[in-house]
Amino acid sequence: MSAQIIDGNALSRQLRTEVAERAAALRARGVTPGLAVVLVGDSPASQVYVRNKVKACEDNGLHSVLEKYAADMSEAELLARVDALNRDPSIHGILVQLPLPAHIDAQKVIEAIAPEKDVDGFHVASAGALMTGTPGFWPCTPYGCMKMLESIGFELRGKHAVVIGRSNIVGKPMALMLLAKSATVTICHSATADLGAMTRQADVIVAAVGKRNVLTADMVKPGAVVIDVGMNRDDAGKLCGDVDFEGVKEVAGWITPVPGGVGPMTITMLLVNTIEAAERSAG
Ligand code: GUN
Repeated sequence: MSAQIIDGNALSRQLRTEVAERAAALRARGVTPGLAVVLVGDSPASQVYVRNKVKACEDNGLHSVLEKYAADMSEAELLARVDALNRDPSIHGILVQLPLPAHIDAQKVIEAIAPEKDVDGFHVASAGALMTGTPGFWPCTPYGCMKMLESIGFELRGKHAVVIGRSNIVGKPMALMLLAKSATVTICHSATADLGAMTRQADVIVAAVGKRNVLTADMVKPGAVVIDVGMNRDDAGKLCGDVDFEGVKEVAGWITPVPGGVGPMTITMLLVNTIEAAERSAG
C-alpha cells in the first residue's frame, strides 16, 4: 500500500485564491489589508522566510511593509516600533520574525503586539482564546495542519490524535485544535517513555520535533494520517521532515511531503489571519 499525498502547494493555491478574493472585496470598500513584517538581525534563514511572506502578500492583494533592523537594535527601540505599528490604521497584522537576538526578550515583544493584530497567534491572549474556544488568531502552522486534515474530509471526532512535540508554536496549539474537533489527544515529547507504543495507537500523527526520522514505518498504524511539520536537512543537505517519508508512506493512509506539505500552508494561514484581522477591523 502507498499513502495518498496531501499536497500543501495545491491546497495553498486554493486557499490563497480565496484570500485574494477577500482582499479584493476589502479594497473595493477602501481598505487594503496590510501586514507589517519586522526582522531584526541578518539571519539568512529568517531573511528567506520574511521575503517569502512579503511576496505572498504582494501576490494576493495584501499590502506589506518589511522593516529590517540591525542585530544591535535595542529592546526599547523594537518595543517602540511595535507600538507605532499597533497604532497604524493601515496595518492589520504584525509579525516579528523569530528568533530575535539574545539581548531582546522575545516574549515581551510578542506581548507588546495588540492582540487584534497578532496574526502569528503567539500572544498569551491568542493562546488563551484558542484554549477557551473564544475568537482570536490561531498560530499559522498548526492551523495549516488542521486545514490539511479538513481538505481530505478527515473526521476527527472520536479519533486518537498523537502530537509529537510540545512547543508553544506548534505542539501545544496543535493539541488544542485537535481537541476542539473532539479527537482524543496525546502529546508526546522528549521524555515520553515509549513513543512507538503511543503512535501505533494513533489515527492521526502530527510530528513537530525538528529531528529527522523521529517517526518510522514500524511506529505507524496502517492507514493512519501522518502530518510532518519538520524542516530538517539530511546528510546531503536536502530538505527533509521529521518523518521517514519513504518508509512511512508504505504504511500510512495519507501523508504530507517535505517540501511541499505543511511549509507552504504556514504562510497561507498567515495571509488568512491577516485578511481576517482586516475584515474584523473594517467591521
Ligand atoms: N520563525 C520561524 N517561524 C516563524 C513564524 O511562524 N513566525 C515568526 N514570527 N517567526 C518565525
